[in-house]
Amino acid sequence: MTPIISIEHISKRFPGVVALNDVSIDILGGELHAIVGENGAGKSTLMKILSGVIPAFEGQLLLRGRPVRFSGTRAAEQAGISIIHQELNLVEALSAAANIFLGREKRRFFFLDDSAMERAARDLLVKLECHIDPGALVRTLRVGDQQLVEIAKALSLETEILIMDEPTSALTEAEVARLFRVIARLRARGVTILYISHKMDEVFRLADRITVLRDGKLVKTLKRDETNPRQITHLMVGREIEAVDLGGARQTGDVVLAVDGLSLRWAEHARAWRLKDISFQLRRGEILGIAGLMGAGRTELLECLFGSSPEPPLGRIMLEGREVRFTHPAEATRAGVSLVTEDRKRLGLFAQMTVGQNITICTLNKATTGGLLNRKHERRLAGGMVEKLAIKTAGIGSMITNLSGGNQQKAIIGRWLLTRPKLLLLDDPTRGVDVGAKAELYRLMHRLCQEGLGIIVTSSELPELLTLCDRILVLCEGRLTGEFARHEATEQRIMEAATARQ
Ligand SMILES: Nc1ncnc2c1ncn2[C@@H]1O[C@H](COP(=O)(O)OP(=O)(O)OP(=O)(O)O)[C@@H](O)[C@H]1O
Ligand SMILES: [Mg+2]
Repeated sequence: MTPIISIEHISKRFPGVVALNDVSIDILGGELHAIVGENGAGKSTLMKILSGVIPAFEGQLLLRGRPVRFSGTRAAEQAGISIIHQELNLVEALSAAANIFLGREKRRFFFLDDSAMERAARDLLVKLECHIDPGALVRTLRVGDQQLVEIAKALSLETEILIMDEPTSALTEAEVARLFRVIARLRARGVTILYISHKMDEVFRLADRITVLRDGKLVKTLKRDETNPRQITHLMVGREIEAVDLGGARQTGDVVLAVDGLSLRWAEHARAWRLKDISFQLRRGEILGIAGLMGAGRTELLECLFGSSPEPPLGRIMLEGREVRFTHPAEATRAGVSLVTEDRKRLGLFAQMTVGQNITICTLNKATTGGLLNRKHERRLAGGMVEKLAIKTAGIGSMITNLSGGNQQKAIIGRWLLTRPKLLLLDDPTRGVDVGAKAELYRLMHRLCQEGLGIIVTSSELPELLTLCDRILVLCEGRLTGEFARHEATEQRIMEAATARQ
């Protein structure tokens, strides 16, 4: 059988980096082919070549045995290939419907036919079992919903070959289950799917074959039935990953944060409260997890603590025994509170700046030190973080947007670690971070706690919270519905609390 796509000896160089080095893979018609590898292994670059985002490369691409070269994404789409990007690629100021039909707008007598587009968008979104209003501006949607809009967009193209670059990284378990049903339907229609994920359970559940990339090179393509997660992980990192042992060596100290009766209004919403009457404490040296489904209020809770909530919360927040009322994140940062946001593209990343500038932006005070001195400091501080977090980059002078997704995330975590906070808030920090780097990050969090920092972390992956946290709070529809010490917490109990009806 002729492969539907033959990737033949493809290489791609960027200044200072070889992103892909002589990679050859055959993709068979109708298969679900998973591509795995560490952060920076070259997965997204390869997918961008297949989908016309990157038109210039060495080597050859064959579609059904015929050489092709796409000048851009439109050309790839016309040939039946479309991509759902890892870093979401939507226009925030437009509606969901307008994004879905961007560049292919429906018209009536030259005028945009908004209602036709909204109707068509609604049909697609319903197919995804999702209840987003097609007229809603993308800017107002949460990350999970934005991802579904991207998926709807790809569906609208009726593509034959669909590339999904970490599609589940921002989805909750229920949304993932929904996506898998959509994938099953696409496969029944004969669509070929290329699927990138850092989640081994997903890969083993979905894939027919798995290709491992490491440092831009092809390691191996294997049939799912002839391998196992352990072998794949080993091929990815080229070594065994030791299990992270956080074994109880943490000593908790004084209360660093006390929250009392915190509530956050939700104007013009049936629920009336985004958060209602939340009280808890956090000690130094403690990692507190916040679990809950999407929409439970996890992000909003962290925003209240960081002074970035949509409106000021009610109730009291005490930092080291003193009441604080942050009206702006800058005040929180000054007081020793840092937040790593879930949506790095929108809230965390300075796309016009270098890796070094992104890491040091909150630490280097531009007003007091001269330019040259700053640059020296930047080199030392940013260089240290790049090493400590093993950020894969050609140098701290590279543009941040040139880093792979997972490495961008590490850079932002590095930025906040440099501010030496008392309280570190992490909103789903390991989204899109590979297994090796995850283990590294867990160890780092553990070390920081031993040094007396208090950490609050949310995660869409329960096993992660169970590994990391001393205590887990569970939110359901803005209310605190459970609290479990490490030895009491199980996935079952947390899920029950997260779906508790009031
Ligand atoms: N436009 C670019 N300019 C310079 N370097 C780039 C560019 N795009 C990617 N790179 C580099 O190429 C390498 C591969 O990046 P790629 O995004 O393909 O990795 P990835 O496997 O998708 O990683 P992740 O799991 O973190 O998403 C990285 O070292 C990255 O820094
Ligand atoms: Mg990637």
